[in-house]
Amino acid sequence: MGHMGGASITPGTLLIILAGRFMGKRVVFLKQLSSGLLLVTGPFKINGVPLRRVNQSYVIGTSTKIDISGVNVDKFDDKYFAKEVQKKKKKGEGEFLEVEAEDKNVIPLVRKEDQKAVDTPLIECIDTIADMKEYLAARFSLKQGMKPHELVF
Ligand SMILES: *[C@@H]1O[C@H](CO)[C@@H](O)[C@H](O)[C@H]1NC(C)=O
Repeated sequence: MGHMGGASITPGTLLIILAGRFMGKRVVFLKQLSSGLLLVTGPFKINGVPLRRVNQSYVIGTSTKIDISGVNVDKFDDKYFAKEVQKKKKKGEGEFLEVEAEDKNVIPLVRKEDQKAVDTPLIECIDTIADMKEYLAARFSLKQGMKPHELVF
């Protein structure tokens, strides 16, 4: 996949999100989708980041990687996420409510099972690594003047 954010990343690599609502969160990279966007998960139970797509321009790879071989991500593609957007649009007034719900970090019910299926084996793996849960739960903060792309994580 080449270089992203200064570090070469492969599925299982931990990424730091550099912009947006989840800025500073460490997440698990699952796979790259055909749009080029990266599929990641918090896991949700650990740091509140649900399964989502992130733009690789706004993440940085770390040198930390966990084993995700027990995780099945076959069903997730760009359509999986695009469908949610279309549903929102069709609902008219409901759209606002759903967007707001998403902003409050609430996973739509339909995705809860998928979230669990992905996160459960991941959390089992994370639990076997000393301090990994704490690491993922902690928000990374860039100090003023730090240049993320010059840092080694
Ligand atoms: C990611 O963001 C960059 C910069 O804003 C943009 O040029 C690029 O098209 C985006 N990539 C995807 C896959 O959306």
